Amino acid sequence: MFLIWPSLVHSAAIDASGIADSELFTNSKSSKPFSQPRNMTDAEYDQFILGRSFFSIPWVEAPSATTARDGLGPHFNANTCTSCHVDSGGAPTLSKDGQPLRSLVFKLTQPSKHGLRWQLNNIDAPAHDSVPDPVYGVQVAINGNGKVLPEARTRLRIESLPFTYPDGQTILLSKFDPYLDQLAYGPLADDTVISLRQPPALVGLGLLEQVPESEILAWADPSDRNGDGISGRPNWLNPPEQQEKVLGRFNWKASEASIVNQSANAAAHDLGLTNPAYPEELCQPAQLDCLAAPRGRQSPHGLLDLPEFRLQAIADYIRGHKVPQPVALDEEAQKGQKLFHEAGCSGCHRSTLTTEKGQVFHPYSDLLLHDMGASLKDGRPEFLASEREYRTAPLWGIGGRVRAGERFLHDARAATPEEAILWHGGEAQAAKSTFIELGRAQRAALLHFLEQL
Ligand code: HEC
Ligand code: HEC
Repeated sequence: MFLIWPSLVHSAAIDASGIADSELFTNSKSSKPFSQPRNMTDAEYDQFILGRSFFSIPWVEAPSATTARDGLGPHFNANTCTSCHVDSGGAPTLSKDGQPLRSLVFKLTQPSKHGLRWQLNNIDAPAHDSVPDPVYGVQVAINGNGKVLPEARTRLRIESLPFTYPDGQTILLSKFDPYLDQLAYGPLADDTVISLRQPPALVGLGLLEQVPESEILAWADPSDRNGDGISGRPNWLNPPEQQEKVLGRFNWKASEASIVNQSANAAAHDLGLTNPAYPEELCQPAQLDCLAAPRGRQSPHGLLDLPEFRLQAIADYIRGHKVPQPVALDEEAQKGQKLFHEAGCSGCHRSTLTTEKGQVFHPYSDLLLHDMGASLKDGRPEFLASEREYRTAPLWGIGGRVRAGERFLHDARAATPEEAILWHGGEAQAAKSTFIELGRAQRAALLHFLEQL
């Protein structure tokens, strides 16, 4: 892997496709930096508005007076996408007393059986290629419709771990230990592990979708041939016997290939909406109340709660957002940017990618998987991603997320970007050590740089 030194201030020029930056990018310090529509034609804007309505207007349980909006549940976590993606960002994850809010999703996995899923023919087969709990499925639903019981209440024990820099500065890190109570259908299986996932901000996903596979693979170095301690490998999502390869790009472990696939996954698992990828309600065989619950009624568009055209509108809405980008970096941020590269952060947080059409942009991710060490191990392999591997989290929009009070890392354990860095290990151990050894003023400059993104 090699380092790219971008110009110190991101270029505001017109790119090869002729799109002026201001049509695609917005000042990262603007209010609501994640939900502004990019410049588009009237027809595109109509589609954007349609998608926004399905993304943000609450769904209700079936049957109701409106077949356009019913179908929520029988089990679900929230009744809109915006509940977990506020203004298309992420969302608060913890209550004041340190308990999980609905946006902190509890995933269930039997890691010892990983790799067997292709033979299991589970009703939830398309999701994540991990083996779910036999009674509760892939994800814990904290709500149920009508007489259907919520599957469980999600809970956390939080352990505080003090960390001291060589220069004496101390900060408190938090480690999360998730558990469930009020389980509706008996205990979890003995070998089921709970893994936490918080919602990422939906930043620039339309651009990430358009990066040619070859550009992403050019950075992969699975056996670390250049000896820099950083490997990086693609997550392939298709069954081994299939010839055509499908590259994962989205979610914390790159477990989905496209925006429309992840939107279908979210509709099914987070809201309980049937759709072309998940035509059945996700009731498990032991959940008799769920199986007996009323279904959405036949509408002019068929039986699915979210037919194809609505799903596509949601995906177009997500693709249609402007991307936050710093307008100019002050002197402190320029110092921080230099330190970011010198410490080796950009070995994974790759500053620049280019779309097929030649649009240059700055996501600070290589979209590859990296081993992040034992402390971030989560018991949940997804396709080729092991329990310790995650996709490099893109850092664009991180300033807006800090201002919105969001937390960081896949399980939201980090209250600040600084805490997130201190949890890095594995392939990122050397970069973290360099960060720790920097003086206090230099660390502050690096963190100040991150907050401009
Ligand atoms: C209950 C909370 C919740 C709701 C509701 C929710 N999401 Fe998400 N969303 C998440 C979580 C958690 C993830 C990360 C999942 C993972 O890594 O496996 C995510 C990830 C995503 C991603 C991928 C982002 C990225 O950067 O890779 C997209 C796209 C997305 N959600 C779209 C939607 C849409 C569309 C809806 C409504 C149909 C929705 N979400 C509803 C919690 C939620
Ligand atoms: C070996 C690859 C690698 C290196 C090197 C690396 N990171 Fe990361 N970074 C990741 C991955 C992977 C994640 C997501 C981990 C998770 O969620 O558990 C991440 C997450 C983060 C986050 C949290 C983002 C979020 O959305 O929650 C921040 C902030 C961050 N890194 C900053 C840095 C800085 C600063 C450096 C240099 C000191 C650095 N990283 C070096 C791979 C790397």
